[in-house]
Amino acid sequence: MTKVYIKTFGCQMNERDSERVLALASSCGYTEAASLDEADLIVINTCTVRRKPEQKVYSLLGRLGGLKERRPHLRIAVVGCLAQQEGDGLLERFPQVDLVLGPDRIGELPRALEALEGGERLCLVGFHQDPCQGVLLPLRPSVRAYVNIMQGCDNFCTYCIVPYVRGPEKSRPSGEIIEEVQLLAERGVKEVTLLGQNVNSYGKKSPGELTFPQLLSKIDQIEGIERIRFTTSHPKDLSEELIRAFVDLEKLCEHLHLPFQAGSNRVLERMGRAYTREEYLRKVERLRQLVPRVAITADVMVGFPGEGEEDFRQTLELVREVEFDALFSFKYTPRKGTVASRWPDDVSPEEKQRRLEELQELQRAITLRKNRSLEGQVMEVLVEGTGGRPGQLRGRTRCNRVVNFPGGEELVGRLLWVRITEGLQNSLRGELCPLDVQEAVNA
Ligand code: SAH
Ligand code: SF4
Ligand code: F3S
Repeated sequence: MTKVYIKTFGCQMNERDSERVLALASSCGYTEAASLDEADLIVINTCTVRRKPEQKVYSLLGRLGGLKERRPHLRIAVVGCLAQQEGDGLLERFPQVDLVLGPDRIGELPRALEALEGGERLCLVGFHQDPCQGVLLPLRPSVRAYVNIMQGCDNFCTYCIVPYVRGPEKSRPSGEIIEEVQLLAERGVKEVTLLGQNVNSYGKKSPGELTFPQLLSKIDQIEGIERIRFTTSHPKDLSEELIRAFVDLEKLCEHLHLPFQAGSNRVLERMGRAYTREEYLRKVERLRQLVPRVAITADVMVGFPGEGEEDFRQTLELVREVEFDALFSFKYTPRKGTVASRWPDDVSPEEKQRRLEELQELQRAITLRKNRSLEGQVMEVLVEGTGGRPGQLRGRTRCNRVVNFPGGEELVGRLLWVRITEGLQNSLRGELCPLDVQEAVNA
């Protein structure tokens, strides 16, 4: 039996792509290897959005070179965004690499595997026009699933590599998406997260296609699906219609990931984000007006070219004002070929680190305070699996917080009412509400 091992870097889209790789490899007779050591084929699904994930891929490739010397018939494939960025160059620089496969070419894996088995080395990169992906379920669907609804991005924020490595934006036909969600529901999936770089522009380039809120509404009607989430929304395209979907659609969870990237208008403009700090704050205010319990999370970066102390203060100020439920913060790194990479990377590494730490310290306090404020509340939790310790379950609230609580394995996959007993830095602790509460709510 030939065995495949896959190592994934990067975003949720890459996680979903890795599932597609495994499903396709399985259709070619491969089974999943439990570790690198027992694999005949090692796939690295790569990310190049910042320097760090890229460096990790190169160091893994180095180590795999040694492994391949000891096991010459091992095959190594590099897929994903770094594969698209470097193309043939990877085959030239790394003799241990047999296959380079861009993110839009994953569907061609079966023919690539055949070529590998015949001893060829090959590179398939570039983008298809076709927005269809085919319906391909994860091999072992669990309680939650990712569903890709779009590929690529047309925004070209000046720091960002994604439009170059994922290609022009294209929306997957809604029929294909709905069919996939229906099949997932039949396999017991309860929660779907719809994925795209800018889901709000779903369908806009495809005449006659549903809008994003219309697509959400269709998915809301699919029997068996209990919860819907999506990511990512671009603030410039966050419409009133989408905000209303949180009110109208029962299954749409009250959580919005709305990256703001910087708090200063000067920086936002140079980033090419097409909104101001004031517009961002107005959208947050409107959202909270209509959906008071909504959790808001965001991405932000520090040390963008030309970011001065005053600009950074405005980022801190915005974070204080919005009080995000969680914040993902990064140090800017120049990316090959982007507009900003032509500007001096003029904030020193030490200064970037200092700003990052100050920002993270501020956010940690906000997150902890918000988590503690939930103590005593009864929240709807979808049980995703067993927890770290025996007799413990792990689930998630609608606002996307992880909750650990005592309970038996038979409850996995159920929606339950849990009383929050403790708010911690990164999760909540709770206890199951008594049976009569569960029954009353589920009646
Ligand atoms: N489509 C999403 C973001 C995808 S990239 C959006 O528009 O928000 C994920 C995050 O990586 C970004 O939100 C940004 O905060 C960060 N990022 C992207 N390019 C970066 C760079 N060159 N340096 C540091 N962080 C970066
Ligand atoms: Fe990158 Fe901007 Fe597109 Fe997001 S919207 S993927 S940050 S270019
Ligand atoms: Fe990384 Fe590509 Fe995702 S660059 S963040 S894996 S779209």
